[in-house]
Amino acid sequence: MINWGILGAGKIAGALVLGIREAGGGRVAAVGSRSIERAGTFAGRFEIPAAYGSYEDLLADDDIDAIYVATRNDLHYQNTLDAIAAGKAVLCEKPFALNSGQAAEMVAAARSAGVFLMEAMWMRFIPAIVELRELVSGGAIGEIRTVAADFGFRANAGAGHRLVEPSLGGGALLDLGVYPISLAMLLLGEPESIAASASIGASGVDEQVAVSMTFPGGAISSAYATFMADSPTEAHVVGTEGRVWVHPRFHNPERLDVIGADGAVREIDLPIGGSGYRFEVAEVHRALLAGETESPMRTLDDSLAVMRVLDAVRDQVGVRYPGE
Ligand SMILES: NC(=O)c1ccc[n+]([C@@H]2O[C@H](COP(=O)([O-])OP(=O)(O)OC[C@H]3O[C@@H](n4cnc5c(N)ncnc54)[C@H](OP(=O)(O)O)[C@@H]3O)[C@@H](O)[C@H]2O)c1
Repeated sequence: MINWGILGAGKIAGALVLGIREAGGGRVAAVGSRSIERAGTFAGRFEIPAAYGSYEDLLADDDIDAIYVATRNDLHYQNTLDAIAAGKAVLCEKPFALNSGQAAEMVAAARSAGVFLMEAMWMRFIPAIVELRELVSGGAIGEIRTVAADFGFRANAGAGHRLVEPSLGGGALLDLGVYPISLAMLLLGEPESIAASASIGASGVDEQVAVSMTFPGGAISSAYATFMADSPTEAHVVGTEGRVWVHPRFHNPERLDVIGADGAVREIDLPIGGSGYRFEVAEVHRALLAGETESPMRTLDDSLAVMRVLDAVRDQVGVRYPGE
C-alpha cells in the first residue's frame, strides 16, 4: 500500500484524492497546506487521517511514501526539490516547472537521489490515448503527416488570478497548451522547428497561443490554446492511409474514430468510468512496486523535451516570468 501525502489543498488536489482511491494500491495518508485550517477542512472533507499546517511538516512524516505536488505552477520546482530531499517519490502537476532550467534541476535531483519522479501528465495514461499511440505506431493510418489539437475555455480570470498572473506562471501555454504540445510530441517525438504566435493580455502573459512544429521526416503539428473562448478541444491525427479523430476533450477522451482512406469509420469507445486521474496514479503505484524511478510511459526526458518547447514558444512570443 503506497501512502500518499497531498502537498497543497487546492482544487486539483481534491480531484486527485479520488483518483488515488480509485487506482487501488494506495491511500491518502496526509495533506499539507500553508494553513492548518485549510489542511483540516480538506482532511475532513476527504476523510484523510493527518493534516499538517506546513509543507515541511508533511515532508517530515516518515509514513509518507509519495508526494503529490498540487500547488501553483511557480511552486512546482521548489516543492518537488524539497520532497526529493525528504526522500519521497513525487508526482508533480503539469506544467512540470516554469521553464526547462527548473525542470532539468528537478530531474537531476531525482536521478541523483534515486527517487521516483513523474510529471502528472494524466492524458498519457487515459486508455483512449494509450490506444491512439498503439494504433498509430502499428501503422493503422499509415505514416503520420499532421497532428492538430486545440484546448480552450473562457476563463474569466480576473487580475491576479494564477491563470493570468506572470509571477504565478500564468498563461494559456503552460496551463492548456502543454496538452496539445505533449500529444503531438507523444506521436511525433521532438520537433526540429517551432513557430509561435500569441495574443498577450494586460498582465503580460499569453491569453491565446498558437504553435506550429515540424518534425524529422517532414510531419507537422499545429496546436492552439486559449483562455478567451470555449474551443472544441479535440485532436486530429492525419496519416497517409487515414486519420483518427480524438473526440473532445482530447486530453481525456472516451472515443476515437478511425477513418480509413476509403472513408469507412471505425468507432472505438473506451469509457473512463470514474476518475480519469486514476490511470496516472496506477502507473505510479506500479512503478514504485517495481522499484522504478521513472515511468517508461512519461519519462523525465519527455517532460524535459516538452519544457524546452514551452521555453522556445515563450521566447518567440515574448512571455517572461519574473526572475527569468
Ligand atoms: N491535471 C489537471 O487536470 C489539472 C487541472 C487543474 C489544474 N492543474 C494544475 O494543478 C496546479 C494547481 O491548480 P489548482 O487549479 O488546483 O489551483 P488552486 O486551487 O489555486 O490550488 C493551488 C494551491 O497552491 C498552494 N499555494 C501555495 N502557495 C500559495 C500562494 N502563495 N497563493 C496561493 N496558493 C498557494 C495552495 O495550497 P495551500 O493553500 O493549501 O497551501 C493552493 O491550494 C496547477 O499547476 C495547475 O496547472 C492540473
